[in-house]
Formats: sequence, C-alpha cells, structure tokens
Amino acid sequence: MSRDLVESVAQRFQTFAAPYLDEPGDDFAYRLKIEHTDRVRAIATDIADASGVSDRVNVAARLAALLHDVGRFPQYKQYRTFRDAESANHALLSVRHALREGMLAEVPTDLRRVVLGAVFLHNVRTLPTNLPPETLAVSRIVRDSDKLDIFRVMIAHFSQTEPAHPEVALHVKLHPTAYSQEIITALLKGDTGDYRNIVWVNDFKLMVAGWMYDLNYRHSCQLLHDHGYLDTIFDTLLPQDPQILEMRRRIMEHLAHRLADA
Ligand SMILES: [Fe+2]
Repeated sequence: MSRDLVESVAQRFQTFAAPYLDEPGDDFAYRLKIEHTDRVRAIATDIADASGVSDRVNVAARLAALLHDVGRFPQYKQYRTFRDAESANHALLSVRHALREGMLAEVPTDLRRVVLGAVFLHNVRTLPTNLPPETLAVSRIVRDSDKLDIFRVMIAHFSQTEPAHPEVALHVKLHPTAYSQEIITALLKGDTGDYRNIVWVNDFKLMVAGWMYDLNYRHSCQLLHDHGYLDTIFDTLLPQDPQILEMRRRIMEHLAHRLADA
C-alpha cells in the first residue's frame, strides 16, 4: 500500500517534470534536478530503512524527498537561476506547485501536512525547535539526503567528471587558492557557513564540508564516510594552510565521534 502510494506520487512527479525538458534552451538544469530528486529519494529510503523510524515517517520521508525540489522547475523557467536570493524561495515554490498539481491527492491529510512541512523546511539554515515529532524526523531525513547528494554533485562538478554548468555551484568565482575568512571563522566555531558569504570556489567547498556538523542520522554519517566525500573535498582544497588543516582535522574527528556512537 505505502509502496504504491510512493510510486503513484513518483509518477506524478515525472509527469510534472518531463515537459520542462522540452523547454527551449537549457535542459541541463532540469535534468540535473530530476536526477538529483531520484538520488535524494533513494538516499532518504536508505536512511529511513536503516534508522528504525515508523512506517509513517518512512513513507513521508520518501514523499518529501520526491517533492522537495519541485519548485526548482518553475524557478528556473521564470528566473533562469537556482539562486533563491535573486529569485524566490524554491522550497515555498515546491509546496505551492505540489499543491497546485495535486501531487499528494491520494495522501491522507495528516500525512500530507508532515510531507509539506518537511518540503518547506528542507532549505532553512536551522530547523525550528518546536516541530511536531514526525515533521522533525522527516525534515531531518530529507535534509541529510539532500546534503549527501549535493556532496556528490559538487565533487563531480569540481572534478569535471560531469559537464560544468554555472548553476551547479551557484556562480562561485574560480580561483585555485582564494577563500573568505568569514567562512572559515564560522566553521571553526562550529557554525554552518552562510551562502551569502560565498565568493570563491574554496568557500563553497568549505561550506559543503561543514555540513558534516548538520547531519542528523548516524546512517547519514556512515554514508558520508563510506563515499569518502570529505577526503575528496579536502584533498582538492588549496592552500593546505594551518587553518584549512585544522578545519579538516576537526571535521574528521567529529565524523569519527558520530560513527563511534552506536
Ligand atoms: Fe532544494
């Protein structure tokens, strides 16, 4: 039953997204988001299955993963950018378009509320503290899954194993060694980096590495570890100066701690 429900919403997502590939000009951006959605859904399923959550949370997590970036399609069509600050909050667009398209028509109202809550919250810097438990659990799974796939996308992008596209890394400036002190100061304090302080490609890599602190589930940390994403990022981060090396040491230590927690 729940598997059918997820498949039916997945079908609705496909029906929604496919026509964007026929938009004139730039189908790369849309293809990127369709593939990202598929992978986030798979990662969310993996985290939910491995973390012993309830069936309701498991289903809601897979549905929220499917719908979290629905707003990226109308956003790119209208504004030709994925930068929310210069266009619109894409999480809000996701909720609006998911509702408008009736994508959750077969989902019971109480579960729909949990799904849409997690979709809306997937891109906030920090989650509110007073969320209902199911919304909190689903939001955490989707946020972890989204980050884990962005690690992969960024590494592929910066290593040029996939075609470069300026929207993937939000138009950062390419420079082999430059980075912004604001980013490293925030991360060394254990804060997450702010998109608004990103100037250089190394700022972006540092911010992504700092997402380690934000992962909620142990299984998410396990996936990060198993894919070796942090080592890959730090190996390409130049200069390897004392601040960067200290940052690397702290993040790797934090990851080891998380993995040691049974
Ligand atoms: Fe998103």
